[in-house]
Amino acid sequence: VISVDIRSLDPTSHDNPDLLGALIALHADAVADRASVGLLAPLDVYVATAYWRDRLAEVRAGRRVILTARDASGLRGAVHLALAYDQNSAHRAEVQRLMVLRSHRGRGIGTALMRSVEAEAMVRGRTLLVLNTRTGDPPEAMYLRLGYVRVGTIPSFARDPDGTLNTTTIMYRHLAPE
Ligand SMILES: CC(C)(COP(=O)(O)OP(=O)(O)OC[C@H]1O[C@@H](n2cnc3c(N)ncnc32)[C@H](O)[C@@H]1OP(=O)(O)O)[C@@H](O)C(=O)NCCC(=O)NCCS
Repeated sequence: VISVDIRSLDPTSHDNPDLLGALIALHADAVADRASVGLLAPLDVYVATAYWRDRLAEVRAGRRVILTARDASGLRGAVHLALAYDQNSAHRAEVQRLMVLRSHRGRGIGTALMRSVEAEAMVRGRTLLVLNTRTGDPPEAMYLRLGYVRVGTIPSFARDPDGTLNTTTIMYRHLAPE
C-alpha cells in the first residue's frame, strides 16, 4: 500500500532550506547505495547543493519538472522530467534521477513516481519519454516491466565512484500513438 503524496515541486518554494536539505539527503542515500544518479559517493555537500540549485533554477525556467513523494515525516523519493525545448522536440522529455530512500524501497513508491511522471508528461504534451540506466541495475528490469523499450547499450557512458566507466542502457516509451 502506498501512503505517499506525489506532487510537482512548486517553482516558487525553492528557497526553502529544508527542501534543499531533504533533496540532498535523498541523493546522498542513493549514491551511498552505489546508484548511478549523476553525483558520486561520497556525496560532496557543496557539489550537491550546486547541483540542486541548478536543477531548481531549471524548474523555475520551465525546463524541468521535479516530482516529490512525501509522507507525514518528509521526503521519501523524487523523479525529474527534463523537458526538451528545441522547436522540433516539444513532444519529448527525459526521465532522470528516480530515487527512493533505501528505508522505503519495495513499497511501490518508485513505480508510483514513474506512473505520476508519465501522467505529468501527458498533461504537458510530452508523449515520448527517454531515459538511460546503468546496464544490469535493478531499475533496468523495472523500466522494462513498466513498458519501456530497450534500444541498446553505450559502453563507458558514466563513471562509478571507483573510477571505472560503466555501460548504460538507453530506453524509451511512447505514451500515446503519434
Ligand atoms: C529504482 C528505485 C527508485 C525503485 O524504488 P522502489 O520504491 O523500491 O520501487 P518499487 O517499490 O515500485 O519496486 C520496483 C522494483 O524495485 C525492486 N525492489 C523491490 N523491493 C526492493 C527493495 N527493497 N530494494 C530495492 N529494490 C527493490 C523490485 O524489482 C520491484 O519490482 P516489482 O514491481 O517486481 O516488485 C529504487 O530502488 C532506487 O532509488 N534505487 C537507487 C537509485 C537508482 O538507481 N535510480 C535509477 C536511476 S536510472
